[in-house]
Amino acid sequence: MNQDEIKRLLGAAAADYIDPWLQVDAYIGVGTGSTANHFIDALASVRHRFAGAVASSIASADRLRSHGITVVELNDVSYLTVYVDGADEICPEFSMIKGGGAALTREKIVASAADQFVCIADSSKWVEQLGAFPLPIEVIPMARSLVARQLVGLGGTPVLRENIKTDNGNEILDVHDLNITDPAQLEAQINQIAGVVTNGLFAKRPADVLLMDVDGVVGTQRRPVKT
Ligand code: 5RP
Repeated sequence: MNQDEIKRLLGAAAADYIDPWLQVDAYIGVGTGSTANHFIDALASVRHRFAGAVASSIASADRLRSHGITVVELNDVSYLTVYVDGADEICPEFSMIKGGGAALTREKIVASAADQFVCIADSSKWVEQLGAFPLPIEVIPMARSLVARQLVGLGGTPVLRENIKTDNGNEILDVHDLNITDPAQLEAQINQIAGVVTNGLFAKRPADVLLMDVDGVVGTQRRPVKT
């Protein structure tokens, strides 16, 4: 099986996993990226069994609509039972790096509104420590250099992602070389830098459930309870 076939398997497995939550008045949160796209495609056949979706990007909203799935704004719903999305890296505590598709800010917002976060990630995304994947940071354009200097002070090497504007009209710095020993602490610290909109660490709100392939079969794990 190639990686895209595995992602398709994960998208279908996520649709099966959330099936018990589908109700005619339920809205679900939908992520962004190639794995999330397969989840959206798998939702098409059950679109009559839930009210609609809140999308984490314009691209996902367009894809949902193309399947006849109702898309609503987050401001119009009070509760999301579940959010389903991919990740660029996920570690044993289920903290993640996200934002490879530049949708991190809306992803973090929609995820924070959901009761459960289901991560669909192929096994190449599993890491013991986050940080080999450069950390995406959405910045207000006028603050790009100011933010970059402070990220250098944290030991990082920021690189401006070329030819990318986020759905919010901002820019992305991809930060290499960070030593991420405490993801939640670094997430909070980077968010304190003036000009940062969001960083791609999802540690304050990690995934609750991980669907990941093992030898071509999708396994389901719940986030380990901290002892
Ligand atoms: C987009 C994301 C994606 O979830 C992440 O980049 C994984 O993408 P893919 O499913 O294409 O591997 O965070 O901003």
